[in-house]
Amino acid sequence: MAKRFLLLLSPFLTTLLLAVTVTESEAYATTTTPYQGYKPEKFTHLHFYFHDVISGDKPTAIRVAEAPGTNSSAIKFGVIMIADDPLTDGPDPSSKEVGRAQGMYASTDLKDLIFTMVFNLAFTEGQFNGSTLAMYGRNAIMTKLREMPIIGGTGAFRFARGYAQAQTYKLVGQDAVVEYNVFIWH
Ligand SMILES: *[C@@H]1O[C@H](CO)[C@@H](O)[C@H](O)[C@H]1NC(C)=O
Ligand SMILES: *[C@@H]1O[C@H](CO)[C@@H](O)[C@H](O)[C@H]1NC(C)=O
Repeated sequence: MAKRFLLLLSPFLTTLLLAVTVTESEAYATTTTPYQGYKPEKFTHLHFYFHDVISGDKPTAIRVAEAPGTNSSAIKFGVIMIADDPLTDGPDPSSKEVGRAQGMYASTDLKDLIFTMVFNLAFTEGQFNGSTLAMYGRNAIMTKLREMPIIGGTGAFRFARGYAQAQTYKLVGQDAVVEYNVFIWH
């Protein structure tokens, strides 16, 4: 009798064991509300100057690739530049460095001088030292005010999203000083 009872019970036991096994395996994704470590969101405005130096013996942006037709194109279509540009708190290159803009930009418009920008803004000063912002966007550099999305961040800027506004402050030859105002939720 006891044996028969066990037999009847066994499919149930198997199901139970399976259920336990499934629960114990790691989930592919978990969403909790509020998520662990939740803190109210903050809004931050950053203001700095971006120095893109192409000329001289210490350029901070270098040409790494081009297409066969790039040099004969007025807007240098196809050129790819890699940059490690200083970010300072003032327009003067000797003003205090607050971070670096590390990434690349490429001429990606057949008609106009427009760059696709892929940059990590790595901050090295104050409360944001060690934190980064990921900026990715279209930069119509001949336009007075350009806007690019901030698509993420690390450190103090985890979960960041927002936008960057860029305005050329000064242009000497191809060397540019660009004023940036960045607005983010994080
Ligand atoms: C295009 O111009 C750049 C910069 O002057 C030069 O380094 C490069 O060799 C040129 N490329 C071609 C294909 O002529
Ligand atoms: C920024 O952080 C780095 C690494 O922790 C540290 O070496 C450096 O002194 C810090 N800079 C400032 C200005 O606090």
